[in-house]
Order: sequence, then structure tokens, then C-alpha cells
Amino acid sequence: MKSIHIENQNSTILIGESFQNIKKYLPEKKCFLICDENIYHHYSDFINQFDYIIMGCGEGIKTWSSVEMIAEKLLDKGADRNSFLLGMGGGLVSDVTGFVASIFMRGLEFGFISSSLLSQVDASVGGKNGINFGKLKNMIGVFNPPKFVICDPMLLQTLPKREVRSGFGEVIKHAFIKDENLFQFLKANREALLNLDADLMEDLIYRAVSIKTNVVESDPFEKGERKKLNFGHTIGHTIENNSDLTHGEAISVGMIMATQLSESMCDLSEADSKEIRDMLESFELPVTTEVTAETINEYLIKDKKKNRSSIDFILLNQIGEACIKTIPIEELKTKVIRLCADQKNKPITTKP
Ligand SMILES: NC(=O)c1ccc[n+]([C@@H]2O[C@H](COP(=O)([O-])OP(=O)(O)OC[C@H]3O[C@@H](n4cnc5c(N)ncnc54)[C@H](O)[C@@H]3O)[C@@H](O)[C@H]2O)c1
Ligand SMILES: [Zn+2]
Repeated sequence: MKSIHIENQNSTILIGESFQNIKKYLPEKKCFLICDENIYHHYSDFINQFDYIIMGCGEGIKTWSSVEMIAEKLLDKGADRNSFLLGMGGGLVSDVTGFVASIFMRGLEFGFISSSLLSQVDASVGGKNGINFGKLKNMIGVFNPPKFVICDPMLLQTLPKREVRSGFGEVIKHAFIKDENLFQFLKANREALLNLDADLMEDLIYRAVSIKTNVVESDPFEKGERKKLNFGHTIGHTIENNSDLTHGEAISVGMIMATQLSESMCDLSEADSKEIRDMLESFELPVTTEVTAETINEYLIKDKKKNRSSIDFILLNQIGEACIKTIPIEELKTKVIRLCADQKNKPITTKP
């Protein structure tokens, strides 16, 4: 087991700890567990030890109505300001649980048992919580870190394969923006990692979380360096909202587009660009989308990271080194039209 403490958030990430040891980490408070239907289905014996609340599944339930439903149930169950919320699930559960915990009675302590690869390496780490609003992702939320996050690779055994690949999309992103060694590790161990080899997964999650926590420590409120974690996300989010791709799949396509832009707008070499595409394809992630340039451009205008007439876009100088480029929206829209036209002749690859 390895642990990482994020000093300025007073938050500890426990990697390789068994979720069954949760009692070691819970404070002496009334604890309520929040999970989704799938997690309850797989882990009901464990969950039944707690007073629990189940929410539905899927991005569509990351809404105010789920927040209201949970708040109502907490009140019915007698939760008070001294209660503790434990979110058990993927990024959806952690985003909603963290948000409810942050606003219920002006804030309760909370922690996570993180159950998807994507949430172990990304969503549950760093203190961002929130819900979607209309068609816009994560529009309403807060920065508020959990007391602890347990990342138990054994939980990944029940995770659907497509969700595993989606999580790899986020890990690969960490390698692209910050860590050439992680890129080589992924390349060398691809097959064993896709088969969820326990030791390698613990190592991988530790490396990925270390990258994210370093960035979060240096820039907790996303003023500069932390923006680099959004590589592939500006376009990826619009693809996710307008297709049936998962988060990791959509950002895979977003990363391909950002990579192509990096070739013309930064120092990224053609060879690195090819390595990036090969890596995503080798982890069975999609590299093209049917979402049109018109749709992407419409959402770019509404993107919350928009800064007046331009967008802070994340590009790559080389594998392992990202940069932030302020691009005028009109220029970006033209480039998106070209990128979408370029990919039209390439086959669309999404595995079930
Ligand atoms: N807060 C952040 O910094 C941050 C960062 C990245 C992503 N996110 C958010 O995270 C969400 C995506 O997270 P996700 O990919 O974990 O999605 P998710 O929570 O919806 O989980 C994906 C699916 O896998 C199931 N599942 C999860 N763990 C399982 C397990 N161990 N066994 C069986 N089934 C399991 C879930 O029920 C769900 O159906 C998005 O809403 C995204 O916006 C937040
Ligand atoms: Zn992401």
C-alpha cells in the first residue's frame, strides 16, 4: 500500500489499501454511504453494514434533482452537521457526494472509496466536486477536498471493460502532459495493464495520482499549471455531451485533435504525434468522432474556461510536456472545421 498526502488540501490518497479496511479511516461520527445502483449490485454485502443512499447511474443523474434527493434522505435519516459522507463509486458518485457534503448544513466531512480507474487516477483526487447544468458539464460545483480517498485496484475487477479503457484514457493523458517515463511504462506493460495485473495497476495508479497531486498542490484553484490537466478536455467535453462515448473515450478524441493542433502551433514533432495516436489506439480508445465541427464550435463558445474572445487551450511541445496557448475563438473554430474534415476518411473505432 502506498499513500500520498496533499499538504495544502489536508487530503490523503491511499493506493492499494483494501476498501474492506475502511473502518480504520472513518472518524467517530455518524456515517452515511452514498453509491450508485451498479456499485450496490456488486458490493451489497459490504454496503449493508452502513446507513446508505443509492442514486441512479449515468451522467444524466449528475443533476440538482440527485442533490435534492440525497439531501432529503439525509434529513430523513437524521444526518446533522457532525455526520460524515462516504461516497463509494466512480467519478459520478464522488462528484455528487463531494458536492452534497460541501453544501449540506454548510458542509460535512467526507471521503471516498474510489471504484473506477478514472476516478482513482483523476476524478476523486484534487477536490473538485459538482454537477452538470443543462447540457454543460460540471457547471455548478465547489473546490473542497475529501479527507481521504481509498483506491483499491481489486475493485476494478468488476468494472466493465469499456470503463477500464476509459480510465486508461485519463492515465495516458497524465503521461502526455507530464511524464515521458509513464508513457514508456504504459507502452512496455500494455497487455498486463489491460488485464489489470494487481501490482502493475497499483504502480500505475500511484504514478498517475502523483502527477495529479503535484499539479494540484502547485495550483489548487486552477489559475495556471492545473489547466494542463484539461488536455483533450475542451473539445472532449463537447464530444462526450453529443455522443455515446464515455469520458475517457471522448477525451481520447479530444487529445488527438489537440495533438494535431500542437503540430502546427507548438513544437510537437510528427514522430511524437504518431506515438500519441498509436498509444491511444493500442489501449483500444477511439481517435475519431462523428460529432460535427458545427456542434463542437457551438459548445466552444459556451465553454466555461473561455476568457472573453479566446480560449486557454492545452497543447503539447513534446510527449511529457504540455503548454498553455491562448487561442482566439474564431481561429480555433476554423481549425476545428479543418480537423473534422481531415478525420472524415479515417474509420471510426469504438469497442463495445
Ligand atoms: N472532479 C474531477 O476532478 C473530475 C475529473 C474527471 C472526471 N470527473 C467526472 O467523473 C465522471 C466520470 O467518472 P467515471 O468514469 O468513474 O464514471 P461513473 O462514476 O459513471 O462510472 C462508470 C460506470 O462504471 C460503474 N462502476 C464504477 N465502479 C465500478 C466497479 N468497481 N464495478 C462495477 N461497476 C462500476 C458505474 O456504476 C458506472 O456505470 C464524469 O461525471 C466526469 O465529469 C470529475
Ligand atoms: Zn477527465
